[in-house]
Amino acid sequence: MKITVLGTGYLGATHAASMAELGYEVLGVDVDPAKVDALSRGELPFHEPGLAELLREHVGSGRLRFTTSYEEAGAFGDVHFVGVGTPQRPGAFAADMRFVDAAVGSIAAAATKDCVIAGKSTVPVGSARRLADIARASARPGVDVQLVWNPEFLREGFAVADTLRPDRMVLGLDGADGARAEAVMRRVYARQLESGVPLIVTDYETAELVKVAANAFLATKISFINALSELTEVVGGDIRTLADAIGLDERIGRKFLNAGVGFGGGCLPKDIRALRARAAELGVEQSVRFLAEVDDVNTRRRGATVQAVTEMLGGSVVGKQVAVLGAAFKPDSDDVRDSPALDIAARLHSIGAEVAVYDPKANANAAKRYPRLDYVDSLEAAVTGAEVVVLLTEWAEFKAMTPAQLEPLVAVPQILDGRNVLDPQQWEAGGFTYRALGRRA
Ligand code: UGA
Repeated sequence: MKITVLGTGYLGATHAASMAELGYEVLGVDVDPAKVDALSRGELPFHEPGLAELLREHVGSGRLRFTTSYEEAGAFGDVHFVGVGTPQRPGAFAADMRFVDAAVGSIAAAATKDCVIAGKSTVPVGSARRLADIARASARPGVDVQLVWNPEFLREGFAVADTLRPDRMVLGLDGADGARAEAVMRRVYARQLESGVPLIVTDYETAELVKVAANAFLATKISFINALSELTEVVGGDIRTLADAIGLDERIGRKFLNAGVGFGGGCLPKDIRALRARAAELGVEQSVRFLAEVDDVNTRRRGATVQAVTEMLGGSVVGKQVAVLGAAFKPDSDDVRDSPALDIAARLHSIGAEVAVYDPKANANAAKRYPRLDYVDSLEAAVTGAEVVVLLTEWAEFKAMTPAQLEPLVAVPQILDGRNVLDPQQWEAGGFTYRALGRRA
């Protein structure tokens, strides 16, 4: 069985390399020749632990190739995975479906043998049924093209492990017509299914919704604890202990209850907005209205962080040296899309602070987004002369730093823990003024 992966961004590149790892011959397809050239040389255009090695290995062995040609892909693939982006539409909340529509239409038209198109991109509910129509209408006479919906749940930073050993797999089928596609997909994923990964076989709509519902739930969980941190900031109390205590209830669970600057990235923020937009189109806007509040709580955390820094600097940031630790939206990633860290750094700069940003991997991407900030190459360089140190992305390097390491370098020993990952007692004992989101000042 031969596999193509359409789109070689985060999702597509990971999926292509992982399918090669499972033993398949894989062809990655992208409309961007520069990306295809880089990947063909075994170069990964972004940071993801373990993926560069996998890419090099399978490009080296010839099992994984890349092309810009849909013609080539249509002749090659038995299964075509669609992993192109569905970004937020400019000036709107809805997802932009142009790339998915084009990919499905092009591959269906190019297919010269019976095949399955497996949609992985995150799409508004109702898309798969429409895409199945596009695929059928575009297919050549005598060529059977079936569409399944097979959402992806990988996390950045754990992308390879999540792809090879997912918590579950979901297959959305076109009713009884989906039998051939189901059999093909069970073969593709045979190794994972044999190793016990649960498979949920359902209809298109449920499959599409599983993906957005999961992300909406995760976003809600984060905003829940962040909303409560607005309370503990006023009343006193410890948001971490609160999260630990409620998290011990198995029905709640401790994961995704880390209070701090809030969620960012290319998925959670855009997906909750796209779900609201889709619900409004379907006439059930009120059903997910709470997601507007989830979004608002999340955005308020950024303002609260700027406010806390301002207070720590005596009421004004103008001309003050601020060390910003972290620019990526989360650790082990160089992704700065909708990053709370970078947004906060930019806001501090815009109100007059002298901001030095250090991120172990994301400086280059951050500089493309906000060229006017000062990016430095080390933790030491960032904190030298700082009147306040602000930890915004919880990289291991920042979690491991000590007051003794920073104290000789900073101008004023104070630190704002935007991720609740440092030990308050350790920093206070080390002579620092310690403040954290979710703690009373
Ligand atoms: C998210 C989902 O977790 C994946 O399951 C999904 O496949 C993916 O989106 C996607 O749709 O493609 P990801 O965006 O990589 O994955 O990142 P997460 O680990 O979910 O973190 C999202 C944001 O929430 C980060 O900014 C993180 O710092 C923040 N977060 C997470 C918190 O603020 N608190 C927490 O307790 C957990």
